Amino acid sequence: MNGAIFFSGKYGSTEQYANWIGEATGFPVFDIKDPNADPSKYEYLILGSSILYFKLSIRKWVRTNLPLLKDKSKILFSVSGAGPGDKLNRWVAASLPSGLASQMEHVGLPGRLDHSKVSWWVRKMLWIGSLINPDPEARKDERYGFDYVDKESIEPILEMVV
Ligand SMILES: Cc1cc2nc3c(=O)[nH]c(=O)nc-3n(C[C@H](O)[C@H](O)[C@H](O)COP(=O)(O)O)c2cc1C
Repeated sequence: MNGAIFFSGKYGSTEQYANWIGEATGFPVFDIKDPNADPSKYEYLILGSSILYFKLSIRKWVRTNLPLLKDKSKILFSVSGAGPGDKLNRWVAASLPSGLASQMEHVGLPGRLDHSKVSWWVRKMLWIGSLINPDPEARKDERYGFDYVDKESIEPILEMVV
């Protein structure tokens, strides 16, 4: 199958998942910041994106490349602190041009937040966010960080590809 993986991440977990999926499928892996990341060459696209501040970090690239994405088979994996569910689905749908979300299979993968890797400003923002977050588990994650990255969670994606 003529497929490829295009990912957008900042702190390494989305890239880690992209590489695991690349190893398992044999598809090439491109960071969207790479000027050679050209989705027009592939029929089957796996897009991977972190969630930052309730939005997909890949959203601008998706808008820019929309004409190239429209008529292809697509899987989207998001990587976040929030687990799969309505909240995550709403963030994903709101980040994508209307109609595109329904053309994609979406799989939410568990992310990682290491406070020692983010700037003092981001740490401060996360702390402020934790003060107003109504969910006690999410509050704890924002405040102290977490590592939920799990290689096995890519299995549903591999089943869709094969
Ligand atoms: C500044 C910042 C904002 C974040 N915002 C959210 C968010 O709104 N919802 C969420 O579920 N996770 C959020 N996270 C957690 C990230 O989605 C998680 O750390 C993810 O694994 C990051 O992917 P990356 O390692 O590829 O950059 C945030 C993390 C950071 C550092």
